[in-house]
Amino acid sequence: MFTVNSFIEAKAKGDKITMLTAYDYSMAKIIDEAGIDCILIGDSLGMVVQGYDSTLEVTMEDMIYHCRAVRRGTKSAFVVGDLPFMSYHINTEDAVRNAGRLVQEGKVHGVKIEGGVEVVDKVRAIIKAQIPVMGHIGLTPQSVNIFGGFKVQGNEVDRAKKVIADAIALEEAGAFAIVLEAIPGKLAKIISEKISIPTIGIGAGKDCDGQVLVINDLLGMYSEFTPKFAKKYANLKEAITTSVGQYIEEVNHGSFPEDKHTFSIKEDILKTIMSDYV
Ligand code: KIV
Repeated sequence: MFTVNSFIEAKAKGDKITMLTAYDYSMAKIIDEAGIDCILIGDSLGMVVQGYDSTLEVTMEDMIYHCRAVRRGTKSAFVVGDLPFMSYHINTEDAVRNAGRLVQEGKVHGVKIEGGVEVVDKVRAIIKAQIPVMGHIGLTPQSVNIFGGFKVQGNEVDRAKKVIADAIALEEAGAFAIVLEAIPGKLAKIISEKISIPTIGIGAGKDCDGQVLVINDLLGMYSEFTPKFAKKYANLKEAITTSVGQYIEEVNHGSFPEDKHTFSIKEDILKTIMSDYV
């Protein structure tokens, strides 16, 4: 079992932490059995599962539904659920209540929250409610309209300093790990060396303490947009298109289903039915 303590232990030992997103039972089971350390039910599900063009439409109900499905498929990995847009922005009470719902109803082990210095009061309050918190800074997709698009962060002096200040503030607030998204690799290295909790990079280079990818990007299933940092380890879109094409052809030509896919009936029963109906 990978637990909240395993994150710090991994960093201390210099072991890399592996994390992937999953949104349903079947995928969670496969990647859990493959040995992944941490599964994130990311609000990226708004884009790759629900087909929206950002994560902003995702609701608490959506998150809880997918968290429950993923947890049913998970035995060993540490499971983290994303707090969606507007579930923690208004006040601390909302943040604690919604983090609690992800744990109680969604069955996750911890929650992830986007933002740095501006969310540390909420991070502290959620941890006080005994819920482990993972931070997420750099390109935080829920801020897409403030950033003016999905843009690399921290490549100017002020913004780089802000990302470092955010990381330090989250560590001080008690976060157990921080996702660094779309920041220069050398900035991620500085942060990873400066703080004692692990950094999990996505588009933040190789010097982070761990890596995370969206499973649909890794498997080559999301064709709308592939970020520069996403490596395709498979081309499932092509494999699915080929398989579905073959299925359509076989159904049309009558070569599927075959006898081995068909249930049989005893001859005497069949004769009786035929004498009544045929
Ligand atoms: O929502 C998500 O999938 C994420 C990862 C990209 C880290 O936040």
